[in-house]
Amino acid sequence: MEPVVHKASASERRLDVSGTAGSVWGIIVAAGTGERLGLDRPKAFAPLGGRPLLAESIDRLDRCPWVDALVIVSAAGWEEPAILLAEEIVATKVVSCVTGGTTRAESVRAGLQEVVDDALVILVHDAARPLVSNAVVERVLGPLGEGYDGVVPVVPVQDTLKRVAGAAVVETVSRTDLVAAQTPQAFLAPALRRGLAGDLTDATDCASLVERTGGRIAAVDGDPWLMKVTTKADLALLEAILAGEG
Ligand code: C5P
Repeated sequence: MEPVVHKASASERRLDVSGTAGSVWGIIVAAGTGERLGLDRPKAFAPLGGRPLLAESIDRLDRCPWVDALVIVSAAGWEEPAILLAEEIVATKVVSCVTGGTTRAESVRAGLQEVVDDALVILVHDAARPLVSNAVVERVLGPLGEGYDGVVPVVPVQDTLKRVAGAAVVETVSRTDLVAAQTPQAFLAPALRRGLAGDLTDATDCASLVERTGGRIAAVDGDPWLMKVTTKADLALLEAILAGEG
């Protein structure tokens, strides 16, 4: 079945980026459920600072000078609210909103179908990481001009890592060389398309799919503020950070 696609309603909201050399497209994946937050709505619509969580990523990426166009991927039935939200923010770069899939990778694949064929670079960002900055976008774009197919922002792993079997600790894993990958992740468009064309099983990020298809991935400094909202405590913390920013 074809995904339901809701184009931005007014034609002037559709950017004429087709054929623009150097165009950078962003895909904001926002189709995950809010179950772990105890919500009856997608996590992207959890309230944060008086507006839905998704608003923060749209707003920040729309104002980011490195981004030319944006595609939002929403849960089924939430495409219209996502487009209305983009209109409320007066976002000028949101091209369309498409229905996501049952996994994150399937949602990215759905978003990719909306990206013009000659886009050079595609950024994929989790709506669940609201505090995306221009600085991190700039950092992930850099290595794409140096022979890399993709770039991930990473932060050091802070906790000691254990492998467990049920309640028993089996092993303490060395955290030397281990980092945690965040988003936005940036890719040369053909490399991301290749990565997303095959088997998507067990892919928790896009870089792993590009790695599987032979792509070279660089790691750059991430941002501790780019934490992902998973629990109510994360939301409360972000609420406090945003109040401090405001
Ligand atoms: O579930 P998790 O927080 O790891 O998801 C990361 C991001 O991927 C979130 O922004 C979520 O909305 C998105 N996602 C999606 N489609 C899914 C699952 C997750 O767009 N089926």
